Amino acid sequence: MLVGALLLLVLSSATEIHGGPSSRAAPCSTLAQLCTSLGPWYVAPNVCVSTLCVDPSCRSAPDLPELAVIATRLTVYNATVAKASIEHALAHAKDGKARKVMQSCLQLYTGAVPKLQWAARSVAAGRYSGVPEVLEDASKHVSSECTDLAGKVALPKENGEFFMMGYVAKAVVEWVQLFG
Ligand SMILES: *[C@@H]1O[C@H](CO)[C@@H](O)[C@H](O)[C@H]1NC(C)=O
Repeated sequence: MLVGALLLLVLSSATEIHGGPSSRAAPCSTLAQLCTSLGPWYVAPNVCVSTLCVDPSCRSAPDLPELAVIATRLTVYNATVAKASIEHALAHAKDGKARKVMQSCLQLYTGAVPKLQWAARSVAAGRYSGVPEVLEDASKHVSSECTDLAGKVALPKENGEFFMMGYVAKAVVEWVQLFG
């Protein structure tokens, strides 16, 4: 996988040197290059772009470290919004089963938010060690566990959105750690 990734990186920079298609020379090339590089192994490039571009500054990010900052900041934001939605759902839960689901899920988010804030501070300071693990744990453990707990109970859609954000952010930070 790594060899393939490196090859792709080499190929895409070669295209730039030799004046490839003009889209590569566009100001959004850092984002485009990152998302193309991640694509085959993690997420489709268009999903990567649309997820990161929830923050419009994605397109003017000057380099990979800045994209990692945007990605982790968005993950904190999404987790915070998801937590608030679950609190709201808990307050309006109709039955005991739904209340239990929301309470357990809320607990998971309450534990995750401070860890994600730590991750965002680390990445902003250029420290990546331990960050992909925190991001993966949050998206996989927190979001997926809420989904499993829920069964037939409807969870706020923000839980699924947070999963995708955490998943993409983990890929971005891992990539930046290797090649940034
Ligand atoms: C969270 O992330 C998703 C990407 O999955 C995005 O589309 C969505 O707008 C975000 N939601 C909030 C409330 O921030």
